[in-house]
Amino acid sequence: MNAPPPIQTVATTPFADQRPGTSGLRKKTTVFQQPHYLANFVQSIFASLEGYAGKTLVLGGDGRYFNREAIQIVLKMAAANGFGEIVVGRGGILSTPAASAVIRAEKAFGGIVLSASHNPGGPDGDFGIKYNISNGGPAPEKITEAIFDHSRTIESYKIVEAPDVDLDTLGETRLGATKVRVIDPVAIYLDLMESLFDFDAIAAMFRAGFTLKFDAMSAVTGPYAKAIFEERLGAAPGSVINAEPLEDFGGHHPDPNLVHAKHLLDLALSPHSPDLCAASDGDGDRNLVIGRGIFVTPSDSLAIIAANAHLVKGYSGGIAGVARSMPTSRAADRVAQKLGIGIYETPTGWKFFGNLLDAGRVTICGEESAGAGSNHVREKDGLWAVLMWLNILAVRKQSVAEIVRGHWAEYGRNYYSRHDYEEVASEGANALIADLRKKLPSLPGQTFGALKIEAADDFAYHDPIDQSISKQQGVRILFADGSRIVYRLSGTGTSGATLRVYIELFEPDPAKHDLETQGALGALIPLAESLADIRGHTGRTEPSVIT
Ligand code: G1P
Ligand code: ZN
Repeated sequence: MNAPPPIQTVATTPFADQRPGTSGLRKKTTVFQQPHYLANFVQSIFASLEGYAGKTLVLGGDGRYFNREAIQIVLKMAAANGFGEIVVGRGGILSTPAASAVIRAEKAFGGIVLSASHNPGGPDGDFGIKYNISNGGPAPEKITEAIFDHSRTIESYKIVEAPDVDLDTLGETRLGATKVRVIDPVAIYLDLMESLFDFDAIAAMFRAGFTLKFDAMSAVTGPYAKAIFEERLGAAPGSVINAEPLEDFGGHHPDPNLVHAKHLLDLALSPHSPDLCAASDGDGDRNLVIGRGIFVTPSDSLAIIAANAHLVKGYSGGIAGVARSMPTSRAADRVAQKLGIGIYETPTGWKFFGNLLDAGRVTICGEESAGAGSNHVREKDGLWAVLMWLNILAVRKQSVAEIVRGHWAEYGRNYYSRHDYEEVASEGANALIADLRKKLPSLPGQTFGALKIEAADDFAYHDPIDQSISKQQGVRILFADGSRIVYRLSGTGTSGATLRVYIELFEPDPAKHDLETQGALGALIPLAESLADIRGHTGRTEPSVIT
């Protein structure tokens, strides 16, 4: 037998900027490519964990530029730090929801996911890394803060000196005492989807002529979508477009919103629209759903999925409750009320859903930022959301438009839009939020035309399971008629600050359900600008992205 490869202890110095954000550590790729940068963070992750010796770590990424190099570094460090086994997706690939599914299926200690989600990739793009715990979900703040603390004092990291692991051949190899198992990135996930959805009913719908266009955006979901939609469910060949994952996503933003996937909206509004248009993002956890002639907002999609989940095999016993991030529209709240189940409002970011899912308080979760998912994993899941819609469509035998309009007629419509001011100067953005906070006590009672402010606060979340408290999670302004404006700063950006303004209006009257969204929000939009003095603080007269 060969001697085990030596474990090297490499001296290093801290980087000051390794605090994980809404979803792990995200930086420009060039930042991650600096010597020791990634290694420091990985060692800081391991230093924050206890009791992993001999246990299993799951590892994969969205395949973006630098993924392969990063995978090799993490493999060698995980081996040097004493993991017993590392389960890695072939080619270093695992979509974020698939990584969550594999962590759960393998009963792993945890997992490391390499992704910057919907941010562009490539040498000039972004890279990211996050740690997921044994439930398959993003590490809670207690761990991410410990990682950050460690990163500020790190002096060395451990890595085995060994040749690169062959990532392209399925099966087992060794890195010293550690077993490395390369797995098919799709298989476990596909089995899980088959256990939740009625594949026969969906396949019958495709045989009867149902048409789908799914844009994988040259990102990680291509192989998953091909295997599920075309090979298993019989969608026509070519239903999945941009199916080949590319390291730079073809130079595009792999972000399935109405800006970066506008071609899908155009298709859906054209005479050639398929029955369903859909897309997912760089790492496969977001979703976009557009029916013939109608875009479904993620907030509405969450509400409609919750209202119809009982029609789907995996949820036929009913759902325990629904959770949504605070800025997400309150459409789901009305469904939960009607079903007589719990509704939870959490800070932005999937990590806050984990405790509620683990405790069985909720079954379905969602965010306005194109995220939906359930207790099948602990991440949001883009393909799951599309399958949910396909299954509901197959059972109800109605179009997307009929289902959405019927939902509004029954529950009322929450007109909703998010206005993003991207890459503004951090100083101005911070001052804007600070000024709003100062103003909060004076706002209730003020009226602006027909709009009267009823309450205003800075959202704080008290986790009902572990009692942790997360403060300063977004400024909310609530109006007497049920309208709402929310302000917060993005925690995922990599340059400057991004101000997000979330605007919502509830309309119970079905005769008023056909308005164009920005028009329906017409009175609230200028008020959102003036209340926060967006122009004064950022110099911007218009948002850079409206979704
Ligand atoms: C954004 C979204 C948030 C989502 C996160 C990760 O975070 O707003 O809902 O969980 O990306 O996909 P933000 O940039 O707003 O902090
Ligand atoms: Zn993502």
